[in-house]
Amino acid sequence: MQDFLLIIHFVGLALGVGTSFATLRLALAAKASPPAERAQIFKYAMALAKNGSLGLALLIASGLGMVFTRGAATVFSSGGVAFHVKLTLVLVLVGLLGFAQVLGKRAREKQDAQAMATLAKVGPAMLVTGLGIVVAAVLAFH
Ligand code: HEM
Repeated sequence: MQDFLLIIHFVGLALGVGTSFATLRLALAAKASPPAERAQIFKYAMALAKNGSLGLALLIASGLGMVFTRGAATVFSSGGVAFHVKLTLVLVLVGLLGFAQVLGKRAREKQDAQAMATLAKVGPAMLVTGLGIVVAAVLAFH
């Protein structure tokens, strides 16, 4: 069971953090493309964002699964401060994802240029937070 949960955790990691890298690449491509094409690229970035949400959902479900099957006290004592830092960053990531979804909806439905500009900043913030979680996770469990 533990191995299965850890496998799901790594699949979620590939989906989640992978989407952040892909979205960054798409944002750079959009910047370099003529304005007429940017709406199209934005549409694909929104489709890609679904992978990010799925990845984070898998990480949280499998992560909580590992904590409760191993015993919360055991995991928190073995993970130490680094695990607390990790979970704090996970909450930040969930907040950023929620904010990005609100901005994405506003940009899509109201062609809100301000929302799109803010979204271009939230993407890299999610990537840095995701990488911070990976560092904290490795420091917690190795
Ligand atoms: C509520 C959310 C989460 C919980 C409760 C959680 C819990 C855990 C636990 C218990 C492990 C230890 C597995 C082991 O024994 O090796 C682990 C490993 C790991 N987690 Fe999470 N996790 C969560 C979210 C995340 C997120 C969002 C990310 C990345 C963005 C992440 C990245 C990792 C990585 C990279 C490892 C492997 C660490 C290693 O084996 O060195 N986790 N997680």
